Amino acid sequence: MRCNIALLGFMGCGKTSVGRKVARRIGWEFHDTDAIVEKRVGLSIPEIFSRYGEEYFRTLETEILAELATRHHLVLATGGGLPVKEKNREILKEHFFTVFLRVSFPLLFERIRRSTNRPLLKKYRTPEELEALYWARIPYYESAHVIIDADFLTEEEVAEEIIRRARDCGVLT
Ligand code: S3P
Repeated sequence: MRCNIALLGFMGCGKTSVGRKVARRIGWEFHDTDAIVEKRVGLSIPEIFSRYGEEYFRTLETEILAELATRHHLVLATGGGLPVKEKNREILKEHFFTVFLRVSFPLLFERIRRSTNRPLLKKYRTPEELEALYWARIPYYESAHVIIDADFLTEEEVAEEIIRRARDCGVLT
């Protein structure tokens, strides 16, 4: 039974800010896998990557997703790489109504290029490398139940659209 909502998409697509708005409107709890990982380890995401490596981060991400999947009435912002792992996609499919916030790469790049809390910007150093990562991930994001094209929508409009689609699919009454 899917009675949680998960937002998927590339870094900078608005999962956290839109997720908070959706949760507030429908009275569900909001969670963010990145924030839970940081709290659990007691370090920021870049520190976790540099001290323990990406694999360690990915393992924790899956553990946290599995824990959250046992709960109900959550809106979850997922890390941009979370749907890449098959195990995570299985958990998402079974326990979450998934929404892909589709934003075009140039727009995302403008939003994230100066961020200091995203270690992948060090691994994928050029816009071309990052864009290749974006396209490699699109098929995983597209496995979501619903896709919202968010380039020309405000965060409020995206939140409204998510709620409307969740109602249409019977996730919300
Ligand atoms: C990642 C995205 C980040 C965070 C980590 C790795 C990714 O989350 O989980 O830096 O692999 O795309 P956001 O999508 O919230 O930036």
